[in-house]
Formats: sequence, C-alpha cells, structure tokens
Amino acid sequence: MGKFIVFEGIDGAGKSTQAKLLGKWLEERGYEVVLTKEPTDTAFGKLIRKLVLTGGREGIIDGARISHEAEALLFAADRAEHVHKLIKPALEGGKVVISDRYFYSSLAYQWARGLDLDWLIDLNRFAIKPDLVILLDLPVKESMKRIGSRSIKTEFDKIVELQKKVRENYLKLAERFPEMKIVNALASVEDIHNDIVALVEHELFKR
Ligand code: TYD
Repeated sequence: MGKFIVFEGIDGAGKSTQAKLLGKWLEERGYEVVLTKEPTDTAFGKLIRKLVLTGGREGIIDGARISHEAEALLFAADRAEHVHKLIKPALEGGKVVISDRYFYSSLAYQWARGLDLDWLIDLNRFAIKPDLVILLDLPVKESMKRIGSRSIKTEFDKIVELQKKVRENYLKLAERFPEMKIVNALASVEDIHNDIVALVEHELFKR
C-alpha cells in the first residue's frame, strides 16, 4: 500500500503550491507520486463548478443556488468517483497520493452552510482515510489579501463571513481527527514547505 496525504485549508491558504512542492520533494527521493485535487476534473467536478462555484472568484464557493444538501451530495458523488477510479488504485499500486482537498473540505464548508456534521460524516463514510492531513491555517484577512483582488466587491463580505466559519470549523475538526496536523501558513513558501517535510518524515516515514 502507498501513502495518502491530503492538503486542507481555506481558499488562498497555499494548498496547491505546497502540494506541488511536496510532490516534487517526494519524487526526488524516488517515490511515485500522484497529484490530484477536489473538486476533480471529471464530469462531476464540472457539474460542481457549474452549479456551485461561480462566486466572486472563479472556483470560490458562493451563496447557494442549489440546496445545501444537493451541494453536499454533489461533492460526495465527485469524491466517490475520485476514490474508486483514482485514489484506491494508485494506493494499491504503492504510490504516494497527494490530494489538494478531500472530505474534510466537505465537513468544513458544508457544515459552515448549516448542515449537520454527523450527517456529512455518514455521507462520506466510503472515503478512505488518509495517512496524513496537512491543515494550512491562516487568518482569513491574510487569505483574502491573496485572493481578494480577484473577488467581485458585492460578493466579498459574504465570502469573508463564510471563510471565517470554515477556518473555525477546520480547527475544530483538527481536534476530532487525529490524522489532521496544523501547519502555520503565514510563513514564507519555503518555511512552510520545510515544516511540511518535517511532518511527512515524522508521521509517514517515522524518521
Ligand atoms: P478549490 O480548491 O478552490 O478549487 P479550484 O482552485 O480548482 O477552484 O475549491 C473550490 C471551492 O469548493 C472551495 O471554495 C471549497 C469548496 N469545496 C466545498 O465546499 N466542499 C468540498 O467538499 C470541496 C472539495 C470543495
């Protein structure tokens, strides 16, 4: 079996940058790496982008135009395909899978929408458990500075409020799920990468 690493955090926390850097670091050490993300690029992911994600910036979640439950079910359907078609086979092939977001995103975001946390956990029971979840944590003010220029002003306040709730939710989830480790995402890209490498070595390769 391979290893399964997930990056989580609010929008603008630097997940995709750090996922790529970690992937490169692992490849340089001889590991076969599969970099992936949610929402995926499959038909389900495209449907999510069309129905859920046309907010202030392309890709950011906005006010619901479909019901919150339908939103949660779409993310779960996308994830089911992701697990069965890509994640599971890659892990069985001994690869290191790095996913930019996974089911913790559904817990943090759809819980912030007002859905019941236990229902969300049940709905995602099929999702195989990662070996390590890196939660890139930073204040919403900072993340909005990074993505704010791409936001439509009228959407901005609504997005800030949601992001604040999502950050709080992530921190609560980290208390409940021991595989989640918090990394301070306020530091430089290089320092954050070094923190992540130390975590990966310690947690996954027991150095
Ligand atoms: P994001 O990672 O920003 O995708 P991209 O960079 O490709 O646009 O994810 C899009 C949004 O979807 C983001 O605001 C978080 C949200 N989201 C959920 O609400 N629930 C989920 O289960 C997932 C995976 C994402």
